[in-house]
Amino acid sequence: MLETERRHLIERLWVEQPKLFVHGEGTLCIDHTGRNGQEEAWPLGRDVLEWIAGILPAQASTLETGCGYSTIVFAICGARHTAIAPDYQQHGRIVRWCEDHGVSCADLRLIDARSQDVLPGMLLEPLDLVLIDGCHAFPAPALDWYYTAEKIKPGGYLVVDDCQLVTGKQLVDFLEQETGRWKLQVRFGKTAVFRKIATGPVVEGFEWIDQPYCRNPAPAPAQPGLFRKWASCWRRLWSSAP
Ligand SMILES: C[S@@+](CC[C@H](N)C(=O)[O-])C[C@H]1O[C@@H](n2cnc3c(N)ncnc32)[C@H](O)[C@@H]1O
Repeated sequence: MLETERRHLIERLWVEQPKLFVHGEGTLCIDHTGRNGQEEAWPLGRDVLEWIAGILPAQASTLETGCGYSTIVFAICGARHTAIAPDYQQHGRIVRWCEDHGVSCADLRLIDARSQDVLPGMLLEPLDLVLIDGCHAFPAPALDWYYTAEKIKPGGYLVVDDCQLVTGKQLVDFLEQETGRWKLQVRFGKTAVFRKIATGPVVEGFEWIDQPYCRNPAPAPAQPGLFRKWASCWRRLWSSAP
């Protein structure tokens, strides 16, 4: 597909803003929000989608946790793409949007599962780009990174969305200190993009002492103030009184 066609399709996607997600749907069918039945979309920013479309090499091999507009953009770019999200209805809407707009889904592999359940046993080919934007609960983004990072080609990209949440921020803080292995390439608000600069392992064989982030001292537990000490002493005396 020509560059101008890609741009035009991303523009259409952005203007149409299809609602791909419905609260309470999905294979796990848990609505944590009380918004059961409401339709939504939580796409990556348009700047991130356009950046991805701009840097992917021809016939790129890519993977994302979660799915949505990003999945459609990978399909527009003709990537050999795997998206993992436990929601076949979302997958259906993604495929329908692509079919309605003449975008081939032949190289799209949509896996209806939670990434933490399937990534550990998956055989992955070398990847040009991994997008982490699935479950945002602790420690899901870190697990997604753990099980995919080794498969990113040297020079390939890791995109971490939702760094405004503590789980995304933790991963980004960690990677920012992995200076010999990853380089912060660009930041788009809540999305950080890292480039893999290591040619060797980035996960396997490391202990905490090899990781600058883990060598940072953990904050000491708060010491009780004088008043608290006095109050606890008083409570103890009082409770031991006959
Ligand atoms: C913020 S949305 C992804 C938005 C998408 N990147 C886009 O550009 O539209 C989060 C996605 O994670 C999926 N998800 C939720 N729990 C997941 C899990 N445990 N593993 C993988 N995906 C999960 C949701 O179904 C949803 O598709």
